Amino acid sequence: MWGGRFSEGPDRILWDFTVDHSDRRLLADDLTGSLAHVAMLGEAGLLSGEDAGTLAGGLQEIVTEAKQGTFRFLDGDEDVHSAVERRLGELVGEVAGKLHTGRSRNDQVALDLRLYLLRSGRARIAALRQFCLAMVEAAEDAGETVVAGYTHLQQAQAVPLAHHLLAYVAAALRDIKRFEDLAGRMDVSPLGAGALGGSSLPLDPDRSAELLGMSGRFENSMDAVAARDHVSEYAFACTQAMVHLSRLATECVLWTTTEFGWVTFSDALTTGSSAMPHKKNPDIAELTRGRAATAIGHLTGLMALQKGLPMTYNRDLQEDKASLFAVDDALAGALEAMTALIGNAEFHPPPPDSPVTALDLAEALVERGVPFREAHRAVGALLAALADQGRTLPEATVGDLAGIDPRFQPADLSLTDPAGSVGRRRSTGGAGFGSVREQIRMFRERLG
Ligand code: ARG
Repeated sequence: MWGGRFSEGPDRILWDFTVDHSDRRLLADDLTGSLAHVAMLGEAGLLSGEDAGTLAGGLQEIVTEAKQGTFRFLDGDEDVHSAVERRLGELVGEVAGKLHTGRSRNDQVALDLRLYLLRSGRARIAALRQFCLAMVEAAEDAGETVVAGYTHLQQAQAVPLAHHLLAYVAAALRDIKRFEDLAGRMDVSPLGAGALGGSSLPLDPDRSAELLGMSGRFENSMDAVAARDHVSEYAFACTQAMVHLSRLATECVLWTTTEFGWVTFSDALTTGSSAMPHKKNPDIAELTRGRAATAIGHLTGLMALQKGLPMTYNRDLQEDKASLFAVDDALAGALEAMTALIGNAEFHPPPPDSPVTALDLAEALVERGVPFREAHRAVGALLAALADQGRTLPEATVGDLAGIDPRFQPADLSLTDPAGSVGRRRSTGGAGFGSVREQIRMFRERLG
């Protein structure tokens, strides 16, 4: 492909060190790009109608081979681009040499990556939606089950289990939006930028973009071949979604402990211990958390890869693919596994067993005009007094309340029930039953 000025062929050491097979995943996208390029060359008069037809026919044959899984990469193929050109030569002969007219592997690989990301982004969005639906269903199944909501991993306020589960849907919907947004920036064709400076041939980059169904062409040919911010951005979208899944994973691990006892995962989605017969381990959740860590590493790697590069293409950029595919695969795998784990989980959390209704008592005083800070102190004093006698909030009596603050009323005792506390909660978007119903309705509508 580039041997003209060389007196000897590549050394094995060079080959082994520089060739990276991870770009084979771009085969379908490379063919899509080449078909559009050939069509543009034909329309621009840079290829005769006959040559354009021959090249397109050969490329179509390779598309079929790729689809059927019969396309063979050879040891001598430096990358996916040279493999396609080599195969095209085998199929249509010398005219294959015209495919690379007005094109460089630099704009070619830049295009392939964008096409790949547009495609995989749609797949990730679909998988995120499935995850959201499984979470919404789990929330619906939870009905009016009330659990302790936590801050600092200390029981804080009573909340519906459904509200807790739906928090992850709210986050995942933003992850979906991120993938949708970045697709808009990704949808730009670099074809026609050539190696870095365009071409003396009358190429038509606008037409190439149109043929590819992309929203437009590059604005600056040097940027077109040098830019990889769309790769970082995509990797960030994957990694952020992984981080959200990882937080859920941590909770799954906690919830399934004997100590929490909130959930039972399906036998088919958990593993056993080779030593301890009683064990049932949440490996899906643990590996999701573990792979979120590796994803963060790859994202960091992608940023570092770009920071020291002069314009324009540098071979360093070849390394972007291994990292990108690693984060993309991590998310695809984790989404499928976590969706299954939640979709087959049985929730049975115990009611909260600490004074999660303390804030309710304070708010009763607030409604009678007591400044919140004063109300806070009064309830704190009540809890301290009860604790001194080895008692808890639900055991408080009318006398206990009156002894702390005369503005407490006997009916306030009923405020100490966690389910009642949730039942009274009415702030918009808060952890009340009405809000949960509204979220389920709204999220279902957004999920289509
Ligand atoms: N395999 C290369 C990559 O992935 C393709 C571009 C090669 N360009 C070049 N000028 N050597 O980055």
